[in-house]
Amino acid sequence: MPNHLIQAGILGVGSYLPERILTNKELEKMVDTTDEWIKSRSGVKERRIAEPEMSTSDLALRASRKALENAGIGPEELDLIILTTCSKDMIIPAGACLVQQELGATRAGAFDLEAGCTGFVYGLTIATQFIATGAMKHILVIGSENLSKVVNWEDRNTCVLFGDGAGAVVVGQVHAGEGVLATKLSAEGSGWQHLYIPAGGSKMPADPLTLEKKLHYVHMNGKEVFRYAVRVMEEESLNLVKAANLELSDIDLLIPHQANNRIIEHAAKRLGLSMDKVVVNLDRYGNTSSASIPIALAEAVETGRIKAGDNIVMVAFGAGLTSGGVVLKWGERQG
Ligand code: ACO
Repeated sequence: MPNHLIQAGILGVGSYLPERILTNKELEKMVDTTDEWIKSRSGVKERRIAEPEMSTSDLALRASRKALENAGIGPEELDLIILTTCSKDMIIPAGACLVQQELGATRAGAFDLEAGCTGFVYGLTIATQFIATGAMKHILVIGSENLSKVVNWEDRNTCVLFGDGAGAVVVGQVHAGEGVLATKLSAEGSGWQHLYIPAGGSKMPADPLTLEKKLHYVHMNGKEVFRYAVRVMEEESLNLVKAANLELSDIDLLIPHQANNRIIEHAAKRLGLSMDKVVVNLDRYGNTSSASIPIALAEAVETGRIKAGDNIVMVAFGAGLTSGGVVLKWGERQG
């Protein structure tokens, strides 16, 4: 290992969204809801839904191929694959291993990471450590979700909010002064029952009764998650900016977890940011959980919204309850 830390950053980005669009109007025919309620309470207008035969690792694979191409590296150059998700293909094995096989990333270790919607920033933080110490050179961090397969389509409290998709980044060495400037990981386990899938694991193995009671689907106390989100999105953002030795006026772009417009607008206001400095795509994709930040990042890069030298704050909250974020200075080589 080198006796100095190596600067880690993002070398390439990619995303994949399924083609099928499910609009609020269509949802009006499925559950007791309205387009107006969904738009005004959450900001979501439509979301993407993966094909029945398409798994979380299939979505991840598509986003990963684009990220590798964008970074200009081959799969055999990857040292590690971290798949962040809360809608795994199977309980065993990790979906990251299926991605590793399909990519032909034969040298790479592979594991899944579950931190709810905060998964991607957890994964990016872990990848940063391996690059910084020189232990690894290239790490693929993916956020991929197939939430349409784990929500109860008869529960209007949850089914209107979520969507499917995947985003991926390749993490590696960047120039000094660029890349990851600060990271923060937090959890409040006392709130775990506010957002969970009760059955299907060792706490409540799936049986005919759990299936009948639909306990293998997402259960959420929306009000409690909302209260937590409003608090931590502000706290985490302010602490991250400080940890990166930046002033609020130095922030060029906020990429928040895409769960609810009202949560995002509150965070932006507290940071003194106008909404033109905030990436929002939840109107088109809904809440894609751990995929939401890498999808938004990839789109911002592809549309030229990010330029070299920009200070970017990525901040998230999710099941766990968890929260955290990453501050990046975008460099010439990045994306
Ligand atoms: N259509 C119409 N009415 C609805 C719907 C719907 N789809 N869903 C709920 N309602 C009703 C409720 O039943 C309630 O009716 P009641 O007063 O008769 O009981 C009423 O609307 C108001 O509900 P509230 O919960 O007060 O609405 P709120 O303003 O809190 O918005 C929402 C609800 C959008 C869920 C909000 O609480 C929220 O966004 N919470 C955070 C959720 C979140 O971000 N979850 C993802 C976390 S990330 C992860 O790890 C996966």
